[in-house]
Amino acid sequence: MATLAPAADTNVPLEAIDVSDALFYATDSWRPVFARLRQEAPVHFQPNSPFGPFWSVTRHADIQAVEARPDIFSSDMKYGGITVLDQVGEINRPQFIAADRPYHGEQRRVIAPAFGPGEMAKMAQSIRLRTAELLDGLPFGEEFNWVQRVSIPLTTDMLAILFDFPWADRHLLTFWSDIAGDIEMALNPETAAKSVQHGREMLAYFDRLFAQRKALPPTNDLISMMVHSESMGNMPDQERIGNLILLIVGGNDTTRNSMSGMVAAFDRYPEQWRKLITEPAKIAGAVPEIIRWQTPLAHMRRTCVADSEIAGVPVKAGDKIVMWYISGNRDESVFPDAERFDIERANARRHLSFGFGVHRCVGARLAELQIQILLEQMLERRMTVRVTGQPEHVVQCFVHGYTNLPVTIERH
Ligand code: HEM
Repeated sequence: MATLAPAADTNVPLEAIDVSDALFYATDSWRPVFARLRQEAPVHFQPNSPFGPFWSVTRHADIQAVEARPDIFSSDMKYGGITVLDQVGEINRPQFIAADRPYHGEQRRVIAPAFGPGEMAKMAQSIRLRTAELLDGLPFGEEFNWVQRVSIPLTTDMLAILFDFPWADRHLLTFWSDIAGDIEMALNPETAAKSVQHGREMLAYFDRLFAQRKALPPTNDLISMMVHSESMGNMPDQERIGNLILLIVGGNDTTRNSMSGMVAAFDRYPEQWRKLITEPAKIAGAVPEIIRWQTPLAHMRRTCVADSEIAGVPVKAGDKIVMWYISGNRDESVFPDAERFDIERANARRHLSFGFGVHRCVGARLAELQIQILLEQMLERRMTVRVTGQPEHVVQCFVHGYTNLPVTIERH
């Protein structure tokens, strides 16, 4: 496990700051260090992190500027991919999130229609039913972990429904998603070997599932749609599986941590919840503000492929560039009083949690729909959720969220 970051002390020299240190996130103490970087060194170099040397880009405008130049700042797995941890090794199958044009655009175009407004409208009903059923099973006046009882099952079950993933095995989606998103595992040889082993098991499982679906007549689930669609029918199996894993893993702990972050946010700003109780129409504005405030993925990474500059700071071909969305979403020049959770924030939609530019999250509408329905169903049941114990945070700098959020529900 990482040691306590010296940069938690705001007086240390700038060059000692390492925002990849997991303890900033485990202890929820990341705010001051990013405020300092935005102010004093918005494009900052860390030469000695456990993930190797990297640049941090921390201002909203500079992050957008990097994302707007995908030909210079590459997502390609062959340079290391999309997290501060270099994506190398046998278990990484081609995925369009970790690819550049033209491959990226071709693959994305095939999958994007499954997440269009028409498809979302069709999915809304099954999401609503599942959410209602889950909320109806929750105890009132008794403390429980919101992450385990609500955020994880809602997100995992929804993905299992959308993909018609074998129901009895759906806990595997949670398990694999947690492993795939845990970049700290690679830093320790023992956990790194475990991660590779579980990656192999996941690939073998998906290989079998794909073969089974291919042999059956087409149905409405996303795997069947992928297997039987004309354009995806021409995709080699390796790529189809890589992209399926991306959809399942990409949509899992991100949406989960929005659902947890939302409870923490309303607990800290109870007047915002009261506002929603009196005016449920404000849910539409609350959803992007929840996603901004939580920022379920703290960063995405690019690799510079030609000498260039970011905000006037020279960067070289081969340099690792980490865009800290968690910081861009607290940039006061875009979001005044940025730490405040405000469901009426006029420009909440400018958040960077879904990225920006050609790779902007393809599942954004689905994530928003799930959060919207969860809020609607909670209000319908007159449920007010209070945080009643010490929250525990995910111990790493990529997935940003909670492992334990003790809560109690009251009827309002
Ligand atoms: C609140 C929930 C979510 C968050 C915060 C989130 C965040 C992100 C981010 C930051 C990116 C990369 C953007 C970039 O590199 O510029 C991304 C891409 C992606 N996300 Fe999401 N995501 C969420 C939900 C989902 C869901 C529900 C799905 C699907 C089931 C999904 C599937 C994808 C895919 C396929 C990509 C790759 C897009 C591309 O490279 O063109 N995400 N997401």
